[in-house]
Amino acid sequence: MRRIPLGPDPMQMSGGKTGNSDDYALGYSKREFQRLQLQSTFIRDLTEDVLKRAGLKPGMHVLDLGCGVGDVSLIAGELVGPTGTVLGVDRSAAGLALAEQRAAEAGQSSRVRFAAAELDTFVPQESYDAVIGRLILMYLPNPATVLRRLCDHLRPGGIVAFQELAMSAARSIPEIPQFVQCTRWINDTFDRINVETDMGHKLFATFLAAGLPGPQMIMAGRAEGGAQSVAYDYVAETLRSLLPTMERVGVTSAADVGIDTLAERLRAEAVAHAACVMPPPFIGAWARLPERRFASKDPATPRDTDARAASLSPAAKKILRSLSDEQLKDAGIDPSLIHSYPEVELEARLMSALMSLR
Ligand SMILES: C[S@@+](CC[C@H](N)C(=O)[O-])C[C@H]1O[C@@H](n2cnc3c(N)ncnc32)[C@H](O)[C@@H]1O
Repeated sequence: MRRIPLGPDPMQMSGGKTGNSDDYALGYSKREFQRLQLQSTFIRDLTEDVLKRAGLKPGMHVLDLGCGVGDVSLIAGELVGPTGTVLGVDRSAAGLALAEQRAAEAGQSSRVRFAAAELDTFVPQESYDAVIGRLILMYLPNPATVLRRLCDHLRPGGIVAFQELAMSAARSIPEIPQFVQCTRWINDTFDRINVETDMGHKLFATFLAAGLPGPQMIMAGRAEGGAQSVAYDYVAETLRSLLPTMERVGVTSAADVGIDTLAERLRAEAVAHAACVMPPPFIGAWARLPERRFASKDPATPRDTDARAASLSPAAKKILRSLSDEQLKDAGIDPSLIHSYPEVELEARLMSALMSLR
C-alpha cells in the first residue's frame, strides 16, 4: 500500500465539526471523512471480496446500512452495475452530502442514492435483494433487533452481508510499544462507551439472533511493514478522530497522544524493528434467505428438508431424512431456512446432531 497524503487539517480550515457527533465516538469532522476514505482505500479489496462471495450481482437492489461517506455503497454500485440500485443510509447529513458528491464523480449518481435516517427507527419503503454494511453493527446497541427488522424488507433468496472489526486480533511482530499503546487506547475508549470492539466475532451469533441462517464467514486484514505503509496513518488518524471521546471518558490526554507526530513515530518504530504491523482484521459474514418459506403445517407440501437432502453427501442425506423438525431445531438447524445453510456447515451440524442423539 502506498502512503496517501492527508494534507492540512481541514477541521481547522472549516472551523470545526460538520455534524452532531455527541452520540458517535469518531465524530463527523472533515478529517474523519478523509479518514473513512483512507480506511476504505486500505481495505477496499477485502470488502469487495466479501460482497462478491455473498453474491452481489448486476441488477440487484441493495441497502447499505451506516454508509458514512459512501465507500461501501460505491463498491456495491460497481457490482450491481447500471441496471441495479444502491440506497446508502446514515444519520450524518454532512457525510451523505459528501457521499452524493462522490457518487456523481464516480458516474454512479443514477444508481447510488443516499438517505438520512437513524437505523433504530428506519423503515425501508421498498424491498431489497441485499442488505449490507461495514463497521456499523458495532455501533448499534441492539444489532440483532435492527437486522431482524431491516431484513424483513429482503426479498426471498435475499442476501445479508456485513463486515466488522475483530479489534482484539490487532498486533505487531515484534511487539512495538507505541502500536500496542495505540491499540489499547482505542479499545479502552470503545469499551467505555459500549461500542463492540469484537463485533466481527459476534456476527455469527448476531445473524442467528436476528432469525437469519448461520452465515459463512471469512477473516481478512492487512499485514504491513516498512516506511511506505499507510498503516501508521490509518492508526494515527483513527486516534485523531477518537481523541475528543478519549479525553472525555478519561482514557488518555492529547498531551500523552502527541497526535501530530504519532504517525511518524509509529513509522520510525516499525521500521527500526523491521516489524510486521497488523491493524485490526475484519470478519465478513454473509447468508441468504430461503427462496421461499417452508409451509410445515401443510401436509400437501413436501418437507423442504427432503428437497435439500438431494445436494448432500449420502451420509448427510440419510441423517437429514431421519431427523424430525424438532430434532433439527435442537441441533441448531432451522428447518424453514434449510436451503440457506452452506453445504459444509449443514453437514457438520447434521453430524453433530447425530452424535448428540447417540
Ligand atoms: C465507521 S463509519 C462506517 C462508514 C462506512 N460503512 C464505511 O465502511 O466506510 C460508521 C457510520 O455509521 C453511522 N451510524 C452509527 N450509528 C448509526 C445509527 N444508529 N443510525 C444511522 N447511522 C449510524 C455513523 O454516522 C457513521 O457514518
